[in-house]
Amino acid sequence: MTDDSSDAPAKAAPSGQAMWGGRFSDKPAELMQAINVSISFDRRLAAQDLEGSRAHAAMLQKTGVITSEDAEAIQAGLKLIGEEMAAGIFPFREEFEDIHMNVEARLRELIGPPAGRLHTARSRNDQVALDFRMWVREACDRTGAQIKALQKALVAKAEPHAATLMPGFTHLQPAQPVTFGHHLMAYVEMFGRDASRFADARSRMNESPLGAAALAGSPFPIDRDQTAKALGFDRPAANSLDTVADRDFALEALGAASICAIHLSRLAEEIVIWMTPQFGFIALTDAFTTGSSIMPQKKNPDAAELVRAKSGRLLGSFVQLAVVMKGLPLTYSKDMQEDKVPTFEAFDALELSLSAMAGMVADLEPNKERMAVAAGSGFSTATDLADWLVRELGLPFREAHHITGAAVKRAEQLGCGLTGVPLADLQALEPRITDGVYQVLTPEASVASRTSYGGTAPDQVRSQIQRWKEILA
Ligand code: ARG
Repeated sequence: MTDDSSDAPAKAAPSGQAMWGGRFSDKPAELMQAINVSISFDRRLAAQDLEGSRAHAAMLQKTGVITSEDAEAIQAGLKLIGEEMAAGIFPFREEFEDIHMNVEARLRELIGPPAGRLHTARSRNDQVALDFRMWVREACDRTGAQIKALQKALVAKAEPHAATLMPGFTHLQPAQPVTFGHHLMAYVEMFGRDASRFADARSRMNESPLGAAALAGSPFPIDRDQTAKALGFDRPAANSLDTVADRDFALEALGAASICAIHLSRLAEEIVIWMTPQFGFIALTDAFTTGSSIMPQKKNPDAAELVRAKSGRLLGSFVQLAVVMKGLPLTYSKDMQEDKVPTFEAFDALELSLSAMAGMVADLEPNKERMAVAAGSGFSTATDLADWLVRELGLPFREAHHITGAAVKRAEQLGCGLTGVPLADLQALEPRITDGVYQVLTPEASVASRTSYGGTAPDQVRSQIQRWKEILA
């Protein structure tokens, strides 16, 4: 049951089969209907379908493929349909299978026979490619704007904390002190790459499928440049077979969405960790936490946990569509109707996650005291000691590393931090060490010393914040 003919049937009967059923004498089995019908989900393409039809009808008129009279009747009918949709009274009907045939069937009810001319030089194959591409294009734009809002929330939170100490981790072990602002700005970079991936995908997908028709192009004197321009595309897509068979645009968008979701899940995970009483680095207000029905003391970071989990849905969507597309022969196969649900679900989940994360970032408050204490614990300034030995005494770094390891061991024996190790004990390891060394062993000094481009020194962090403020303005 394919849509091989671009001609509408001469007579309308009240079912989807009427639009393609000229050669059929029996009705489809109920199960055939059940598996075939897509209106329950592709109704989300209604706006794009109407816009595409308006552009197509205008082009058919301009090129003389249909008369002005018919074109005007079609435009008036499409306008009415748009109004019905806006008012929520458009009848979406299962018997008309999908959004394309629902619109056409309604058009016929509203304007009669001219409705049958709208599908000239068009197939549902290029129509669905168009509608879906426009939907994904809009989703990329919406997501790009949401990412920007999240970045702004991160920058706003980072700014007052450009110098707020926190431990930097590797292996989730205290590594070197950093600032909370620096840490938040790391996510601004990550989300910046996400935004650019969406923009990049958008520019590659911005070619119009309309006019590829069923698969081979059209014998009518259509003007594909006109419809491409009217629908905001850069140009018509160049190969009709590729055009109706291609869903790269959705895969790319889902790929970008999956990577973005991975970033969100990492931030979500950090929020969950930071929220534990053991860390106690941040607090979220009641706005983004929930209680337990049995344990009265609980304040759970459910929103962060759900953002973390939704990355599974996003990645699943990418895999789902990739598997649908894998191994499909050219050109259109009905398998491709299964492209929409994962894509819709993925973007719904991503948009919700991005908003929830922006809300949480604005909401969270760091506990500066606890983070400062943690920043100084775990011998986090050991590298600073080694660097001092290199700088002040001219030791090779390997040797400095070894001496510092011994100093850490001594501190462990004494049950103190590096600053608590007496000078005599340090000099027992390297006699030339002076008490000037203690100045570099505080987390403040450690952070302030990391002035290399992109480093955690507060001035570096501030200049990155300034740079992003200009980018995001
Ligand atoms: N509902 C279909 C889809 O989403 C529209 C295209 C149908 N084309 C066809 N030749 N049956 O893929």
